[in-house]
Amino acid sequence: MMKNRPKRIGILTSGGDCPGMNAAIRAAVRTAIYNGIEVYGFVKGYKGILENIFYPLYARSVSGILQKGGTIIQTARCPEFLDEKNQMKAAQNLKNLEIDAMVIIGGEGSLKGALALEKQGIPCVGIPASIDNDIPYTDMAIGVDTALNTILWATDAIKDTATSHERAFIIEVMGRNCGYLAVVAGIISGAEYTIIPEAQLNIEKIVSSLKKRFNEGGTNAIIIVAEGAGSAEKIAQQLKDKIGYEIRVSVLGHIQRGGSPTAFDRLLASRLGRSAVEHLIDNKHNVMVGLQKSQIVATPLEEVAKGKKKLDRDFLSLALMLGI
Ligand code: ADP
Ligand code: F6P
Repeated sequence: MMKNRPKRIGILTSGGDCPGMNAAIRAAVRTAIYNGIEVYGFVKGYKGILENIFYPLYARSVSGILQKGGTIIQTARCPEFLDEKNQMKAAQNLKNLEIDAMVIIGGEGSLKGALALEKQGIPCVGIPASIDNDIPYTDMAIGVDTALNTILWATDAIKDTATSHERAFIIEVMGRNCGYLAVVAGIISGAEYTIIPEAQLNIEKIVSSLKKRFNEGGTNAIIIVAEGAGSAEKIAQQLKDKIGYEIRVSVLGHIQRGGSPTAFDRLLASRLGRSAVEHLIDNKHNVMVGLQKSQIVATPLEEVAKGKKKLDRDFLSLALMLGI
């Protein structure tokens, strides 16, 4: 338990990277320095703590990064950190360095890592950052809005060529086991069909709906598939020769994780970065700061780790209704 306000804090980014992580780092570093607190950046997530790879971050170290995708302190998946012995070692390393508290920026898994560090006596505040938008207790995670804009740009471009050739395209988007990116992309790109892990795949329904569209003179058809709902390639095989259109597949891949963060993500990251450090200053750790109804709200890490974000079913019905 941290009794006084921290003198020195650490910061890391973990798990899959996303646009806006740098904006969060910048906000946390500058809020700390504004309040007379030293900051150390740990490189490549939990690996940086385990292997003592870190360096000091100053106000000027974070100049010019607000608009950059990725993370200047790099990220990694660190399976060794799942082992409690290594969690103890990491906590000891931090204590040896007189790091009073940590800001952990990352996805669902990384926030469980923050909880593990708390259990070893290191005060932590988590910041939700993942394009998947699968983190509970925050309406949006950092990176989601930028990823959606990238998907939108890609689907608009694909629609042009789909129309010229009168083709159907199956576009696979990321999201791990969560259909959020796919379903919102389906709505905003005007897709004819959206396939997500949270809903039963009904090939016959897709066939009849696309056939009808083809017979009514539709010049293209766009189907968005969440990666967690099955491979776009396999779905294309099932639809082939049944819908009138020729089919092509496009897997958008890691392009969705890069690029300059949108205005929304820069603002969210700046607010959350500041709030995380202010929570540490006020000794209100063991929480994740998130966005709920436009307000920054703190939720215990334990709740975040136990929770599961539910997909808004309205989004799915909207995507399917507008796609007819
Ligand atoms: P994300 O944070 O993007 O969801 P991962 O699930 O891969 O990505 O988690 C990133 C890292 O967080 C893992 O490699 C591991 O170091 C740490 N982590 C994940 N789950 C746990 C856990 N249950 N306990 C401790 N650390 C974890
Ligand atoms: O969690 C973010 C994410 O991009 C998921 O959408 C995707 O399933 C996964 O990470 C890809 O991970 P990797 O970068 O290891 O291929």
